[in-house]
Amino acid sequence: MESIKGKFITFDQNETSRQLDLGLEALIPAGRFITFEGGEGTGKSTQLNLLSEWLKQKHINNITTKEPGGTEIGSELRRLLVTGDKNKMDAVAEVLLYYADRRIHLTNKVWPALKKGTWVLSDRFADSTVAYQYYGYDKRIPFETLKDMYTIAVGNFKPDLTVILDIDPKIGLQRSFAKAVGMTVKETRFESRELDFHHKMRQGFLEIAAREPERCVVLNADKSIEALHQDIIGLVAERFGLNK
Ligand SMILES: Nc1ncnc2c1ncn2[C@@H]1O[C@H](COP(=O)(O)OP(=O)(O)OP(=O)(O)O)[C@@H](O)[C@H]1O
Ligand SMILES: [Mg+2]
Repeated sequence: MESIKGKFITFDQNETSRQLDLGLEALIPAGRFITFEGGEGTGKSTQLNLLSEWLKQKHINNITTKEPGGTEIGSELRRLLVTGDKNKMDAVAEVLLYYADRRIHLTNKVWPALKKGTWVLSDRFADSTVAYQYYGYDKRIPFETLKDMYTIAVGNFKPDLTVILDIDPKIGLQRSFAKAVGMTVKETRFESRELDFHHKMRQGFLEIAAREPERCVVLNADKSIEALHQDIIGLVAERFGLNK
């Protein structure tokens, strides 16, 4: 196994987020937390799985997971969040459900895996909440409120790397709707929003990346699956000191 150098995080899954912030735990060697973000049909799930396989070939233990719905309780929250009428709940209720899902995801799955040294690849994380429920919804929830919710649920923990896949929403939505055709449960609550919403959300992801350039890397997703995979492994290899 390639060495994982110098990476430590402090948390205790049984402590409150306030205590997490204080870093009361001893230093624990940890796996890496990589998140995939971007609009609908940008290729997040496809690329996450390809990266997972590539890491396995490098003998790096990893799991793939997703938000919402990475846990048993989360899959119930996912159904509430991503199916049905787009106006069935307001933005505040929606954000609270996303953060409930995120907290359960972290405490029950992500943190225990990282603690064991397992890398975790997550299909969406907190940037999606900002892009969809802040930028997509015309900033109706104050940004400070979203930051407070992040602190309550996540503390000072954040991804080691966030890959933001960027594409014209028209192309992404075409891919997503084509994928949904044969599915019995249609996860298209957000896809069914107007194109303008998706453009605002795309702009939101770009602004997030501009604010946190060390954590976030934006990649052009308008290319073949294999070409984008090569971009991603190039990035991951460089970032974490792995051979390509
Ligand atoms: N680079 C690509 N070129 C063409 N088609 C692609 C590409 N990447 C993925 N696809 C196809 O587009 C569809 C959406 O891809 P995928 O599910 O990986 O995207 P996603 O970002 O996870 O979408 P969603 O937001 O709906 O979960 C799939 O049918 C996939 O096979
Ligand atoms: Mg997906």
